[in-house]
Amino acid sequence: METPKLYFIDGAVPETPAPSGTPAPWTETRVVGKPLPRVDAYERVSGTAVYPSDVLLPDMLYGAVLRCPHASARVKKVDASAAEKMPGVRAVITGATKAADLRWYHSRTVFTKLFDPTCRFEGEAVAAVAAETPQQAWDAVRAIAVEYEVLPFVVDYHKALEPGAPPVHEGGNRVGETQKYQRGDVAKGFAQADKVLEVTYSTAAEIHTPMEMHGCVARWDGPRLTLWESTQGVYPIQQRVAAVLDMPLANVRVIGSYMGGGFGSKLQADKYNIIAAVLARITARPVKLFLTREETFLCVGNRPPDEMRLRAGVKKDGTLTALEMTVVGTGGAYPAGGTSLVDWLVRDLYTCPNVRTESTDVFVNGGPARPMRAPGHPQGAWALEQMMDALANTLGMDPVELRLKNIPTVSQANEGQPYTTTGLKQCLVEGAKAFGWNAARRRSKGDGPIKRGVGVAAGLWIAGDGGPPATVIVKLFPDGSANLNMGASDIGTGTKTIMAMVVSEELGVPIERIQIENADTLTTEYATASGGSKTVPTESPAVRDAALAVKRQLFEIAAEELKVPASELRIEDDAVVSTKDPKANKKIAALQGLRRRGLIIGVGTRGPNPEGKVINPFAAQFCEVDVDTRTGQVRVLRFLSANDSGRVMNRLTYENTVMGGITMGIGLALTEQRVFDRQTGKVVNCNLHDYKIPTAMDVPAEIVSNPIDVPDPEANSTGAKGLGEPVTIPTAAAVANAVYDATGVRVADSPISPMRLVALLAAPGTRG
Ligand code: MOS
Repeated sequence: METPKLYFIDGAVPETPAPSGTPAPWTETRVVGKPLPRVDAYERVSGTAVYPSDVLLPDMLYGAVLRCPHASARVKKVDASAAEKMPGVRAVITGATKAADLRWYHSRTVFTKLFDPTCRFEGEAVAAVAAETPQQAWDAVRAIAVEYEVLPFVVDYHKALEPGAPPVHEGGNRVGETQKYQRGDVAKGFAQADKVLEVTYSTAAEIHTPMEMHGCVARWDGPRLTLWESTQGVYPIQQRVAAVLDMPLANVRVIGSYMGGGFGSKLQADKYNIIAAVLARITARPVKLFLTREETFLCVGNRPPDEMRLRAGVKKDGTLTALEMTVVGTGGAYPAGGTSLVDWLVRDLYTCPNVRTESTDVFVNGGPARPMRAPGHPQGAWALEQMMDALANTLGMDPVELRLKNIPTVSQANEGQPYTTTGLKQCLVEGAKAFGWNAARRRSKGDGPIKRGVGVAAGLWIAGDGGPPATVIVKLFPDGSANLNMGASDIGTGTKTIMAMVVSEELGVPIERIQIENADTLTTEYATASGGSKTVPTESPAVRDAALAVKRQLFEIAAEELKVPASELRIEDDAVVSTKDPKANKKIAALQGLRRRGLIIGVGTRGPNPEGKVINPFAAQFCEVDVDTRTGQVRVLRFLSANDSGRVMNRLTYENTVMGGITMGIGLALTEQRVFDRQTGKVVNCNLHDYKIPTAMDVPAEIVSNPIDVPDPEANSTGAKGLGEPVTIPTAAAVANAVYDATGVRVADSPISPMRLVALLAAPGTRG
């Protein structure tokens, strides 16, 4: 059975060569692991960092896109004559513009025009304007007269499967075949069970809502196009833009050295990149085109909503005997992974010999999904981890105990290959201890209307392994300062800081004497997009490799000057020292050979991962909530996250990432939900007022990170696994389990809104 593909994005295929001899993992570190503040903290907080949305160029125009206001429509006529005559307007492009007559691919297999007459979701691009000011551009957009043939639509993924539903595409509303997975014999497994439970769970669609909007600035210099793009990966953007515009890769430069968050929604190029490039070309002026917050709710991705019917069989002693899951979900109007990886935890988190899953992905007239922080996994955890809680309750077992009873030793979903390391057990045991789980479970729920409860949930992440290709360059100057050149984006997780720490670890260069150039296809080395919680495990071994290449050359130079063999040298602070005779030492800045060379360059690459092994991060999370049973209001009081993500590279950025993941997971649990209007098929909450993301008031003051800080010796030369996604996988389920513990009510559908919870609390027969 083929492992599901992680992302629907362009990516590197060629593998860079393995590094020259993989170095052994560090046994001791001086810098790595410390809670170091970000190397670019000052730039970020002072406003001196230039994000793509800050880029201002001389003579720059502003672009704006006219978007289809209907869930389903055909564009019959576009009249731009009035708009073209408006003040400040320099170009209007429509489906009839020759320069904009381009083929766009929504996925690898589905093509449309850039401005396609068929609009399958609210927010599809119909025309665009470039003008001297953003206000003039938007005025002109409003002056474009479009005649639409409004068509029947379907936005409910259950209704989309009913006979007679309006077809989103010719051929119906199923996205390919139903995906099936099976191992063992579930019928036999259920027959062996002492208890069988079946519950249908669902999660609402979420929107990524990064701080910085999606967008770019486009500028032509003759045949060369430069894009300043807010992106997780400059190279995938370059690839797609070059393909659509039929240009050599070498002529497309993408710069994204800073970016304000993406969470998976900025892994791929968008139509706006092409629109900006075309507008810039025909006006011969740079064009800035950033979406509005409202647009970002419609057309640059979402976490697919899914319904998950889950049946589980368990023996009295807690042994799982069978798991069966049926998933229905939607990635919107184009193939975008509506059910992708939703069943993965059912397949792989716990030991279970008999597993069957079925996933049906459905088209609806909604904006296409994009990968969102651990695609499919928080949805799957919402179902599986609530089910584990319900099974424990049925058996009268502690939910931690039930999970410990079913800890896997190998990856069953990967043909029984062993994991390099699996800290799931430690996450549960040490997390429970640090949280005070047993005492918290015994505490009174409260006599009044406010009930207190605790919940636990666990997870693993299918990726987080990292791997080739990656190339980086480290330069060491004769004064002992260094440059690091790396193609990867720092998507807010502290990538640059961690990589500087790796250079410092190997070369002794103080962090403040390392400058980093990153995420620019012209000037930096190849990197895959920062996603899949792979950036640290992909890049850090390449950085270490580059630093070691510098170190070898440095030792050759020093060996000559100190008259000792290079093999007995080591770096101590800013000096090269003999391990045998400490008196034989020289400051790096005093090495004549280095002065004569000018600088030393080390090129590092990322070697392959071990064959026949699975590298995954694991997590367990514990939380405590108060539920006001009069209002249905849930208040999260505290959270503890125990993560096995291999080595902790930087304790501070690690904790930041845990906080961010838990914050997002609380949003999934309690408030976040894209809402379609049933009458019109339009999204009614396209803004941060009506779509509720957690604020500082909604997250607990107490979020504790309890890392299982055990370097993975087989994964790679730094021993790190991914963290960003695993920290949000169990969160929502842990909240739901705590709500159950407090109230005896199981909320199977996200979000646990006050209205929904109050209704369930009032309904007979929903408790217990
Ligand atoms: Mo992610 S969903 O790997 O940015």
